[in-house]
Amino acid sequence: MLRPAFIEALKAFAPGQETPFFAYDAVAINEAATRLLRAFGGVRFFYAMKANPSLGILRLLKKLGFAVEAVSVGEVLRAFRAGFSPDEVLMNGPVKTDAALRTLAEAGVPRLGIDSFADLERVARHLPGAEVLIRTNPDLPVRTHPSLATGRGDSQFGFMPEDLPRALARAKAAGLRVLGLHLHLGSSLGDARDFAEGYRRLYALASELGPFAVVDLGGGFGLDLEVERLAPLVEPFFQVASEVWLEPGRFLVARAGVLVARVWGTKQTRRRYLLLDAGMTQFLRPALYGATPPIVHLYEGQGEAVFDLVGPACESGDVIARDVRLPIPSEGDLILIGEAGAYGSAMSSNYLDTPRPAAYLFDGRCFRLLARAEEASELWKREEDAGACVD
Ligand SMILES: Cc1ncc(COP(=O)(O)O)c(C=O)c1O
Repeated sequence: MLRPAFIEALKAFAPGQETPFFAYDAVAINEAATRLLRAFGGVRFFYAMKANPSLGILRLLKKLGFAVEAVSVGEVLRAFRAGFSPDEVLMNGPVKTDAALRTLAEAGVPRLGIDSFADLERVARHLPGAEVLIRTNPDLPVRTHPSLATGRGDSQFGFMPEDLPRALARAKAAGLRVLGLHLHLGSSLGDARDFAEGYRRLYALASELGPFAVVDLGGGFGLDLEVERLAPLVEPFFQVASEVWLEPGRFLVARAGVLVARVWGTKQTRRRYLLLDAGMTQFLRPALYGATPPIVHLYEGQGEAVFDLVGPACESGDVIARDVRLPIPSEGDLILIGEAGAYGSAMSSNYLDTPRPAAYLFDGRCFRLLARAEEASELWKREEDAGACVD
């Protein structure tokens, strides 16, 4: 699903670069954004920046008219740094500490999603008069990986429907400005029936408790979902709210990005392996959620074989993909790990003292640096003053 022009550009660019590295296709991000804007006329979009918080990508989406959804103070500060104003940032998340809220009081107060009574009281104390959405738990067992199913009644997110009236009343009494209701069913949802049922439940609540200034339907669009089919499910919300918001993350950036890795050898145990310089440290989703990224090879080879692609970590779980038929490579050949634009670099770590890789944005003409690769010396910088007594 990568654009052929992007693959051709990578064939020319990648051989001269240190691997691994992330590369994103700005044209593909633009296309995904345009598709959403066309499908959902009149809706305001808050890009879920957890999918890929790169400043360059935030600025690109800002130009297209997107606001952002953040779930940590760090993300809010990053959004400000990218040029978003506080009213263009919505901060969700189940835990907002005193320290976090003090930082927001100084740096700029975004719109906030309220997730529990404890959250409500703390936000009201630190940020009186803040504009808030009340997050609803629709109690719906959506079809996705269990760790991504936030709309389930047994997840830790949102107020149960029966608690909503009390939450709304308490928020108002505590001096918060209630904009409306918020829902996020989960991530990587591929079945339109889950959206139909989740939105139906929220609509019933909004009609009963509204009207509101805003209803926010969250994100969660799976990559193969026909988003155009969801538009008729969203339209009715304009009868119960002046504004309807959506918070897509993955859908905008996942297929625009690849992780480029080099092959350092093949190996046969009871299975046949292809040894890469990228793995779970750079791209955790296969190990964490069983994600199965598409693989593209940038080399020609003599004959073919079926390989498991593995990274350099000393963990048998460091598998990027299994049972992939590929031409037999030589040392130094290049592989593209696809669908790495969302929850890829964002979830990469320094595990095994591995510096995080560089990232580039292809603008249709050239690759522009988004983030340089980390230096090894940056990895122990925080420990340089260690040893002193702390009181
Ligand atoms: C509150 C909220 N909104 C939006 C999103 C974006 O989800 P996705 O990237 O699947 O669109 C998430 C992701 O977990 C989320 O927690």
